[in-house]
Amino acid sequence: MKQVRKAIIPAAGLGTRFLPATKALAKEMLPIIDKPTIQFIVEEARQSGIEDIIVVDGKNKRSIEDHFDSNPELEENLRSKNKNEMLKLVEETTDINVYFIRQSHPRGLGDAVLTARAFVGNEPFVVMLGDDLNNIKGNGKPLTKELIDDYQETGASTLAVMRVPHEDTAKYGVIDPSEQVKPGLYNVLSFVEKPDPKDAPSDLAIIGRYVFTPEIFDILENTQPGKGNEVQLTDAINTLNHLQRVFAHEYKGERYDTGNKFGWLKTNIEYGLDHPQIKDQLREYLIELTKKL
Ligand code: G1P
Repeated sequence: MKQVRKAIIPAAGLGTRFLPATKALAKEMLPIIDKPTIQFIVEEARQSGIEDIIVVDGKNKRSIEDHFDSNPELEENLRSKNKNEMLKLVEETTDINVYFIRQSHPRGLGDAVLTARAFVGNEPFVVMLGDDLNNIKGNGKPLTKELIDDYQETGASTLAVMRVPHEDTAKYGVIDPSEQVKPGLYNVLSFVEKPDPKDAPSDLAIIGRYVFTPEIFDILENTQPGKGNEVQLTDAINTLNHLQRVFAHEYKGERYDTGNKFGWLKTNIEYGLDHPQIKDQLREYLIELTKKL
């Protein structure tokens, strides 16, 4: 079995839900307390054994490139003042290989993944969507690692799903599950992008972590624009499933959706309640606040 060594992080979205904050700043750089959301993704990749990451970015994404680049001036400044803890935080951002490629036209998630084809070549790889975080407190197995472990057993493309409220199916790719080959690992009859709740085949929604065999690229080349007139990754997965098995792995842990204002705020609170510098203060504040609500 080939090892899964490479990851694609699509980050070309405009982030319109966070305007005006995202007018000049990439939405992937919005922090959860003190760490940009995309850094959580990069850390999850590293903890899952990924060696090389490619970020597919768009316009206004220079800040992401700078974040994963060294900053000798800042590092020298921190070193000369003996601010070693801070220096460590800065240096940690460059200890994995992160490459960048630009998607020139925003043609959808499927097209963004296809843009990174030359980087991946003929190997299995991971796709990690930036809005979806898991295991942010770092005390469990990252979801990406769970998928890679499944891949090591089956050799098949596998994506993560999670139960969502039925009225939310139109926000997600949704699977029509068949039998489980082991607890939590489903054979799938079909994959549908953002179905109306009345048409949704189940409540099992795709949540932004995928392991693919390289055969997905040929399929993406030939996938016509679908929902929203964009090339949908979910449509390509549905086609792949007719040629090779594609499994759905049900995730049972905590998922944090940072792609909308309320989800982002909740993630900040949860992470803050675990953050060594502010957790006690935040807990006290929340207790006092709830008394007033
Ligand atoms: C994308 C995918 C969708 C998936 C979702 C997970 O949609 O197209 O299948 O369920 O991510 O967050 P987006 O949220 O980019 O509209």
